[in-house]
Amino acid sequence: MTAEALYENLYAKLHGVVPDVELRYKAGLAADIIRRKAEQNAVILGHNYMEPVLFYSVPDYTGDSLELSRRAARTDKDLIIFCGVRFMAETAKILNPTRTVLLPARRAGCSLAESITAADVRRLRQQFPGVPVVTYVNTYADVKAESDICCTSSNAVAVVESLPSGTVMFLPDEYLARNVARETGKHIVFPTRQPVVGDGLLDVQLIGWHGRCEVHEKFTPRDIRDIRAQFPDVAILAHPECSPEVTALADFSGGTNAMIRYVQQTHAPRYLVLTECAMGDNIAAANPDKELLRLCSVRCPHMNEITLEDTLAALTHHRYVIEVPEDIRVRAARALERMIAIG
Ligand code: 13P
Ligand code: SF4
Repeated sequence: MTAEALYENLYAKLHGVVPDVELRYKAGLAADIIRRKAEQNAVILGHNYMEPVLFYSVPDYTGDSLELSRRAARTDKDLIIFCGVRFMAETAKILNPTRTVLLPARRAGCSLAESITAADVRRLRQQFPGVPVVTYVNTYADVKAESDICCTSSNAVAVVESLPSGTVMFLPDEYLARNVARETGKHIVFPTRQPVVGDGLLDVQLIGWHGRCEVHEKFTPRDIRDIRAQFPDVAILAHPECSPEVTALADFSGGTNAMIRYVQQTHAPRYLVLTECAMGDNIAAANPDKELLRLCSVRCPHMNEITLEDTLAALTHHRYVIEVPEDIRVRAARALERMIAIG
């Protein structure tokens, strides 16, 4: 596709969202990326948090972390370019190890993935022998390798309920764990914050950790009350990485794909989406007939590292290659495949 044709497409979708001069410049970059992608037999996967021009131009598939894991596992392309953060690119490599996986930014971390190490999980296993470990996919490969099963925000409850054990460790997102505890009716403790008395597990059914998403922890119940005072008919959607006090006040809580579907399918007069703000722009562009309120000053600094410039550089210089040591990969793949089997 030519840069001019891409610009026309992007203008039709994003003219109310992105300034014209930026659209023109980025359409040129996107055209180069699409050409190189075809030359190199590559697939581009784009997370829902990618900035609007990237999101609506270069990916072959967009989606949440679960959907993109499935796409990565199935692709027969030689090269996977992951426009997301490092733990997502690692997941692609774990599930499809014969492909080359590139992450366009050197780091692109995640505050949740940084919050726990493999040694922490081993220590917890010693502290709570026999208790199965569920880890959120927002973790690095070595942490997944220490886990029994992974989950994403869209299947966390189903994964916990699939386990025969009454007590489960759910790591590392404190807020997602608290939200899962509420939905499953389980009691929760945090062993690093409060001692578990005796074996302590008699009425404890979920053992959490203290990780937080630096983006979603910023939303507060007060934000919701203020918006509702101004717009009583607003439908409020919150990602389950928000605190349980926030999700309890929202009309809907779900992963990024579920929030996109909710806005498409529900007929509220206006919406407020409490998540990373590029996704708000992407939803607004896809639903021009609906009013989206903005409470958005928070971009994920890690997702924000992925730009069209870096994506072009990734294809040009074959960087940054994601490697996962084979012994870790095999064990992490088991935990991921168990999750994928649940659906
Ligand atoms: P999803 O799994 O809902 O795409 O979320 C990933 C993420 O990083 C949310 O902050
Ligand atoms: Fe991690 Fe939060 Fe960024 Fe998602 S939004 S990648 S959980 S820091």
